[in-house]
Parts: sequence; structure tokens; C-alpha cells
Amino acid sequence: MKRILIINGPNLNLLGKREPEVYGTLTFEAYFETLKSKFPDFSLEYYQSNVEGLLIDKIHEVGFTFDGIIINAGAYTHTSIAIADAIRAVKAPVIEVHISNVYSREEFRHHSYLSAACKACVVGFGLDSYRLALESFR
Ligand code: DQA
Repeated sequence: MKRILIINGPNLNLLGKREPEVYGTLTFEAYFETLKSKFPDFSLEYYQSNVEGLLIDKIHEVGFTFDGIIINAGAYTHTSIAIADAIRAVKAPVIEVHISNVYSREEFRHHSYLSAACKACVVGFGLDSYRLALESFR
């Protein structure tokens, strides 16, 4: 059974309440239950933190044993060379996801430090971005 970890970064614990016109009205916890039912053949885990170093610690922790990581690093996407280096440091393929289409938003969201370190990116499909990323591990 493939082991995949979904990592959400800062402010994504507020999904459902946070800017619902951009990020929707569903909590990630509710969506994660749907995802698990759609992928019974995967062992899916979920981790969220608002702290950059804890995201890096988690990537190190699972990055040599899991089959893949799906990461939405929130605003750290646009600032964090340290998370990009952590992604490069581990063996597991990492897919970057974003709920919103960052390219149709403010210019500071157009650059990602993570993309070049990741296997692929899924951007702008709402929460469905996570499902599409998971499909690629099938
Ligand atoms: C986001 C896009 C980022 O620019 C933003 O800082 C987020 C969420 C997304 O999923 O659309 O926190 O990663």
C-alpha cells in the first residue's frame, strides 16, 4: 500500500473560514475524509503547521520512507528557500499544490521557490487540486 503524506502550511488550518470566496467553505478535515474514501488503496496521512521549521522537520521525517508527499506550503511557497532545500534533500517525490490559481492573483504569488524542486505542480482546481495530485501516484 502506497504511503502518501499531505502537508498543509500556514493559515490552511483555517480552510472553511478563511476568505471563502477564494478557498471555499469546506474544512480540510472534512475534505480529507472524502479523499480517504476515494483512495482506499492508499495509506493517507495529513499534517498541518503554521511553523516553517516544523514543515521542514516533517518533510525530513517521512521523506525517506513514504512513497510521496503532496505539499501546499501556503505563503511559504513564495518565500522559503529552506522548504525548497528540504524537498531536494529527501527521496520521496513531492507534488506542489495550490487551491487557488496563484497566477491569476497578486504578482508576489506568481513565483514559487518550491516548484523547481518538486516533481510537478497542480494549481487552481480548488480542493480538487489535492485529489488530482493523488491520482498521479496511482
Ligand atoms: C495558496 C496560495 C498562496 O499564495 C497563499 O499564500 C495560501 C494558499 C493556495 O492554496 O491557493 O496560503 O497556497
